[in-house]
Amino acid sequence: MNEIIVSMENIGKSFPGVKALDNVRFELRSGEVMALLGENGAGKSTLMKILSGVYTRDEGKMTIFGKECGDLNPKLAQEVGVAIIHQELNMCRHLSVAENMFLGREKVKGMMLSNREMEAEAKRILDELKIELDPKQVVGDLPVSKQQMVEIAKALSTNAKILIMDEPTSSLTSKEIEDLFRIIKELKQKGCGIVYISHRLEELQHIVDRVTIMRDGQYITTMNYADTTLDEIIAHMVGREIKEKFPRVTCEKGKKIFEVKHLNAGRMVRDVSFSVYEGEIVGFAGLMGAGRTETTRAIFGIDKAESGEIILDGKEVTINKPQDAIRAGIVLAPEDRKKDGLCTKLSIRHNIALPNLDLICNKLGVVLSKKEEKICEEAVKNLRIKTPNVDINAGNLSGGNQQKVVVGKWLARNSRVVIFDEPTRGIDVAAKVEIYNLMNELKKQGIAVMFVSSEMPEVMGIADRIIVMCDGKITGEVMAKETTQNEILTLATRFDKKMVSGE
Ligand SMILES: Nc1ncnc2c1ncn2[C@@H]1O[C@H](COP(=O)(O)OP(=O)(O)OP(=O)(O)O)[C@@H](O)[C@H]1O
Ligand SMILES: [Mg+2]
Repeated sequence: MNEIIVSMENIGKSFPGVKALDNVRFELRSGEVMALLGENGAGKSTLMKILSGVYTRDEGKMTIFGKECGDLNPKLAQEVGVAIIHQELNMCRHLSVAENMFLGREKVKGMMLSNREMEAEAKRILDELKIELDPKQVVGDLPVSKQQMVEIAKALSTNAKILIMDEPTSSLTSKEIEDLFRIIKELKQKGCGIVYISHRLEELQHIVDRVTIMRDGQYITTMNYADTTLDEIIAHMVGREIKEKFPRVTCEKGKKIFEVKHLNAGRMVRDVSFSVYEGEIVGFAGLMGAGRTETTRAIFGIDKAESGEIILDGKEVTINKPQDAIRAGIVLAPEDRKKDGLCTKLSIRHNIALPNLDLICNKLGVVLSKKEEKICEEAVKNLRIKTPNVDINAGNLSGGNQQKVVVGKWLARNSRVVIFDEPTRGIDVAAKVEIYNLMNELKKQGIAVMFVSSEMPEVMGIADRIIVMCDGKITGEVMAKETTQNEILTLATRFDKKMVSGE
């Protein structure tokens, strides 16, 4: 058996009001992929931030390559061979790919930065990983999936022997995930130990050797992946069994609530027309970059629509900005929660209050704290947002709980149309079911629900009708109960000749 390269014992860590880690242990061997699993807020990221020197532990012992370590900082951790790919992207958006990769360890010639050398080295690493990217390109201009690939390349460029990946696949396309798995397998062969955090449990089978499970800041167990089942893993994570992963409710289809006619907005929204009826959830399937997010943005008034009609309850509505949409009763929980969905420096309370000021202020514009308290409490209770109180900064919540705040702020409004764009990204199994139930609840109340998701099983399991997009256009519409993954995939790749012919 391979040697133990990381050993953590009795690790404790507290934040104001939260014991994030309590007597946790963790072990990693060379040449293995260890999955670190647990619900949102279980303490996975915190534990790995301690290993990578981002946080210092309050108590416990940590041994790396047989040497006991005191407090680390990111630079020291890098020197002992630990690299981390963070859950939330941490790129300098205005710098180039190469500059980001060599941040803090820039190559210099005399007194000058040697951009040429860094670009050449970056190119070599990217090529080796078969990642198609120009090292000179500014990172902020790249789509999230490419930024994530830069993070990965950056971590690998330090020649780390211990590599931590905190939800690396949450915004990658299936092709990029395949690339990542190939890279992981190569690293394993070279003897690297990899910690892999993910809520996409079905992807574990491709790469994982062992799993460590945490719950509520505590260590639960470590098992060989081959000796366990997904159901057992989930039961350990949640502390109970989850009977139905995709709870579907059946409602009578009622009248037409929402209609979009011939919507055009830029290259990615071309002649999009569809309707949503009372009592149904309409799923939007497709590959990443199919134009689904752009469609939601155009409907919500973030991007300008060039032409098209939006009809709500039989009346045409004009939407030039998000405020118009919110007033009309159309709300959006966006895909990129950190950038678009939340003010991370504000408290949960203020995040929830902000879009609802019209509901909680008196005529003079003064916030009525009782009303504010009530909508916050309801959101925290209904979505089971895990937090000691609502005055915690939204940015300090665990990833999944941040997502719940994004959804929670719309619950107080009596909206007519609720658009969810990838609402379960980074959310644990139990919380996913809660989000599905929330969508079902809205559906029962006769609210039009639009559900954009790249995860085929969940669109097929939760939506009633599925609209498939490819390259900015609607390529088909199917009933969830009657369709197959293959049929959806064929529609989703209609304009992509390469994939259809299987090249
Ligand atoms: N900087 C911080 N300040 C205050 N509380 C924090 C901070 N970082 C984490 N926490 C809290 O510590 C707990 C563990 O959070 P952590 O981010 O480690 O969870 P996680 O297992 O990574 O969850 P997820 O799957 O949602 O990413 C949570 O209750 C979280 O709110
Ligand atoms: Mg986390």
